[in-house]
Order: sequence, then C-alpha cells, then structure tokens
Amino acid sequence: MNQAVKPPINRRHVVGGLAAVAAAPWVLPASSAQPIVIQFSHVVTPDTAKGKAALRFKQLAEVQTGGRVRVEVYPDSTLYKDREEMEALRLGALQMLAPSLSKLAGVGGGDFEVFDLPFLFASQAAFRAVTQGPVGQGLLQRLELNGIRGLTFWDNGFKVFTANRPLRTPADFRGLRFRVQASRTLVAQMKVLGAAASVSPLIQVEELLRKGELDGQENVPTNVFTQRLHEVQSHLTVSRHGYLAYAVIVNATFWQRLPEDIRRTLERVMHETTQYANSIAEAENESALRRISDSGRITIHHLSPGELAQWRRALAPVADQMREWISPATVAAVRRAAGTPA
Ligand code: LMR
Repeated sequence: MNQAVKPPINRRHVVGGLAAVAAAPWVLPASSAQPIVIQFSHVVTPDTAKGKAALRFKQLAEVQTGGRVRVEVYPDSTLYKDREEMEALRLGALQMLAPSLSKLAGVGGGDFEVFDLPFLFASQAAFRAVTQGPVGQGLLQRLELNGIRGLTFWDNGFKVFTANRPLRTPADFRGLRFRVQASRTLVAQMKVLGAAASVSPLIQVEELLRKGELDGQENVPTNVFTQRLHEVQSHLTVSRHGYLAYAVIVNATFWQRLPEDIRRTLERVMHETTQYANSIAEAENESALRRISDSGRITIHHLSPGELAQWRRALAPVADQMREWISPATVAAVRRAAGTPA
C-alpha cells in the first residue's frame, strides 16, 4: 500500500518540477519534539521487492527510533521520475532513493555500469559476492564526491526482453527500437544487436510501447508485470542477459547531520531491510513471471543452449566497446569476485 503521507504530485505532471524544489532545501527540525522526516522516492510499484523493502524500512525506522523519524515513501514515480529524483537528492529536496545501478554513472562514474555488462553474473549469489565485498563498497564511496552517501545494495534479478515479435536469436533484434535505462552500456548492448536504444523513464514505457513509439524493452519480470508491459507486448524471452539491482543512497549532508544515535539506529535498520529485500527478490520475480505467463497475454520463450550461445557471442563485444568508460581494472575485479571467467 502507498504509505505516502503527503498527497503526491501527479507523476504525469511532474516534468520541470525541480525548479520548485530547488528553492526548498531540507532542514532538520529545530525542536526534538518534531520527527525528522525522510522522504524516500522510487519509481516502481509498492508490490515489487524494492517497493516492499522501502515500506519495511519505513516501518522498522519509525518503530526503532521511537517515532523520532518519520519516513514518507513515494513509490511509482509519484514524486519524481528517474533523472529528476537524482537531482532532487543532490539538492536536498528529498533524502533517500534506491535507483538502479544503471542510473548511477552520472553521480558515481562510468564504473557503475560494470553491472550492465551482458552475461556478467551467473547467479544472484555471484552478484551479491561483488556488492557485499570490497568492490561494491569502493563503488559506493565514489558517490561521496557528489554529496551522496551510498548505504547499501539491494538485489532485484535477471532481466528479460519483450517485443512484438519473437526474440530467439540476435538477428531478431535488427531494426527494432528498445527502451533502456540511462546507461551507455545498455545503449551499446542494443547497438551490437542491430537495434536502436531509446532512454526513457520507466513510468512512460507502457505508453510508448502501446503507441508503437517503442518496439520492445528489457526489465525484470516484476517490473514487466507491475508496469503491465506484458499487456502491450506479444513476446517475452527469458534471456537473463543482464542483472538489475539497486543502491540505497541518501543526501550525505543530511545523513551526517543526523543525531549520532538516530544515524546508528537507521544504519542497523537498513542492514535489516537489506536482508529482507534480498530474501524476497528472487521469489518475487519467479512469481511475476508465472503471473505474466498465466495472464495468457504474451508468448514466453526460453532460450535453448544453442540460442544462448548465439546471444553470448553477439553481446561479447560490448565489454570491449566500453573500455574507455568502465575501467578494465573494475571489470577484472568484478569478474574475480563474481567467479566469472575472463
Ligand atoms: C527501470 O528504470 O527500468 C528500473 O530502474 C526501475 C527500477 O527501479 O527497478
């Protein structure tokens, strides 16, 4: 359920809204009788793993701080869309976000796109070995340069592709236009498949597909299902070609200025929330894929070993093409931690 306590700005009318928030920086309450408010904005529905985790954070934070903190969760782009939310965080117009890693290069550097390299992770455990080790922590620290504190990573899962034609082999992508998140690596991924890439906010994807302005898209099953993309596409391929996950980030000044005991409590709560988020992500995606299939509205294709080998071959050049943007040292460190052969 949407726990927002303020009436949210209508997401369809939010474009350009940053001018208004720029003049309204956050302040901690002057008196300790007033709760500290954390506005937490994200772009997916409350019934996804991230949506549920955000609400879990709210619940735990409010109870464990004895009401000294109030968390307002704004899901499904109700407050800000993708790009706007990052700027709003930096300006201090809100305090907490959980963007996908694909959207962090603008504030943390191109190395964040290492997570977008095709077929880099064999399993969720491999991804987690990276984010929970020194490579992940090193990446989060890079956000500080832009006034952002990275608190933790949250899992989601492996992406699928959808389109209005079967996508069995790389040749099937030729000439189509796909929505991708704002990541140079994802744009390169579509180009090597002979397709065009179009960067658009998640909230607009269903409409763009329905109007035929886009031919296809990639995302995790939970986002396909909850954004109802399976209702406007005829074919889905369980390609598992890339992994979608998040970093939970806060405005660094806000975080530093929190009373020490509150900050420590919130760090503990975030740790607990991360365990919860990571424990449900895989099952949420399995369930969404089942529900997409049960809807009978879309044909689901699983890649045969031969097809998978073709996809891997076709997408292999992406890593080379991104060498100037994602440092080879980071790629090597991620591969090592994930146990992915070089
Ligand atoms: C997307 O834009 O497709 C994803 O980043 C959405 C999300 O946050 O899962």
